[in-house]
Amino acid sequence: MEYSMETLRETVSYINERTGGFKPQTGIVLGSGLGGLSKLIDKVCEIPYGEIPGFPVSTAPGHEGRLIFGTLEGRRLVCMSGRFHRYEGYSYQLLAMPVRVLKLLGISELIVTNAAGSINKDWRPGDIMLIKDHIKLFGDSPMTGPNMAEFGPRFFDTTDMYSKKLRALAKNCAKECGIDIKEGVYFYFPGPQFESPAEIRAARLLGGDAAGMSTVSEALTAAHMKLPVLGISLMTNMAAGILDQPLSSEEVNEAGEAAAPRMESLVRTVIKRLSGEDD
Ligand code: HPA
Repeated sequence: MEYSMETLRETVSYINERTGGFKPQTGIVLGSGLGGLSKLIDKVCEIPYGEIPGFPVSTAPGHEGRLIFGTLEGRRLVCMSGRFHRYEGYSYQLLAMPVRVLKLLGISELIVTNAAGSINKDWRPGDIMLIKDHIKLFGDSPMTGPNMAEFGPRFFDTTDMYSKKLRALAKNCAKECGIDIKEGVYFYFPGPQFESPAEIRAARLLGGDAAGMSTVSEALTAAHMKLPVLGISLMTNMAAGILDQPLSSEEVNEAGEAAAPRMESLVRTVIKRLSGEDD
């Protein structure tokens, strides 16, 4: 195990010291090209990952690498601006660590955003999908290894991992924002290569709607802790082989930037609604 309960507690107390004990209610993980969301937050404190004991450091282009604390629409947030992926060399087990830290800081739900390739041929780049489930056929679970019983049981349920309640709330918010929201299955690929056209055809046959290289380890970590997840994927491109053209990270980032205002208004409205639920 690359970390223990003791090192996690040290990480959490370091963060609490830096933030003055700020207690976030919602955690948000920002995907590639979607980092602009953090600018909306009325910031209390920002901590670069490199300064947090035991925290991994993100190396993926377009991922900034800091924890941002602050409020938005009356809700206290902690935002991971920059996330970690298996393709950076981190083990699946280590990918669980930041999500566990967010839970220990006090969040009661996790919003995860990502860029994905549309496997679904009826959708277009710029479309936004709520994740209703995922398929992960590759690699370990983030919960492989000794079970940390403080977080959850050895064998855990994933039936409502992408909370039905949060999805219903997000659908209402999308309507309010005038967004024609999709809902579908996120098919996880470890990357860093984009998928082959044959892999995408196989994923479609298996029931995938969107292909991506992140999110699933975070959602599983949350499911282990019974932490509700809202997953939002931006289709930045049609997945490999659908169009007769190569895929590039420039295309992904450009589409992310172009859709940023819609993603931002959706997340902001979701946060506002969550804030209202507490009243
Ligand atoms: N595949 C995997 N991950 C991605 C893609 C894709 O086509 N687009 C953005 N992230």
